[in-house]
Amino acid sequence: MNTLASDFQRMPGHWVLASLGKRVLRPGGLGLTRVMLEQLHIGHDDDVIEFAPGLGVTASMTLQRHPRSYVAIEQDERAADTARSYVSGDRRQVIVADAQDVPLESHTATVIYGEAMLTMQSPVQKEQIIREAARLLKPGGKYGIHEMSLANPTIDPQRRKEVRQDLARAIRVNVAPLTSAEWIDLLENHGFHVLAVQTAPMHLLHLKRLLEDEGISGFLKISGNLLRNRQARQRVLEMRRQFVKHAAQLQAISIVAEFRPK
Ligand SMILES: C[S@@+](CC[C@H](N)C(=O)[O-])C[C@H]1O[C@@H](n2cnc3c(N)ncnc32)[C@H](O)[C@@H]1O
Repeated sequence: MNTLASDFQRMPGHWVLASLGKRVLRPGGLGLTRVMLEQLHIGHDDDVIEFAPGLGVTASMTLQRHPRSYVAIEQDERAADTARSYVSGDRRQVIVADAQDVPLESHTATVIYGEAMLTMQSPVQKEQIIREAARLLKPGGKYGIHEMSLANPTIDPQRRKEVRQDLARAIRVNVAPLTSAEWIDLLENHGFHVLAVQTAPMHLLHLKRLLEDEGISGFLKISGNLLRNRQARQRVLEMRRQFVKHAAQLQAISIVAEFRPK
């Protein structure tokens, strides 16, 4: 990626990581992704929509399950181009669009999922994206989310504000994780019935998780790029510091829910 040093100061944290070679950008890593995909039971009869595929890592895992169709909705053109390299063939496409306003017909999907994309939205945007999932799914269809969550169900408002502000400052995007109960409420308020909830540690930048998610060669590539790029290194260390500081408050969560309209 041809990026100016000054860009690294302002760039959202996930694009800093991506420009260093990191491909897995969700809080629970590939482990929690596998759990979510297992619980979504994607098979040959499914019409799948992925919100925010990023660099397309989960897209390729989904396509190995040979769904009838697969459409990704990604708002970032460069990410969409990268995701496209994993998505080719009949009834497979990546559309550059906002998940709040998806240019697809209602009640056409049997499975929708999105990872590390709701946490960064405002309350209104979160609602709108979940409303879109409900509009696009057929009754009985499944919706999977994989997001950041607040581990303490009774976290006091001041502490929540501190976590949000520290993370938003370090990542340079809005960061508004909810407690498990709040994520579940949000889904239930839009006609979803929760089938499964799984949590994992928020270890995005831990050594063990980096090796699990990126493999040895990916890890070496990221490490080499970090050594060469001081601005990016500062950003990564800043994010890691905040993840460690708030480790007790943070976790990753995956929820799979069925659309059961009244
Ligand atoms: C943290 S990255 C996660 C990427 C990928 N899902 C993963 O877990 O590796 C966030 C992604 O969400 C996309 N995104 C954020 N808001 C979106 C929206 N409203 N509609 C579509 N894509 C969105 C960003 O462009 C970016 O690709």
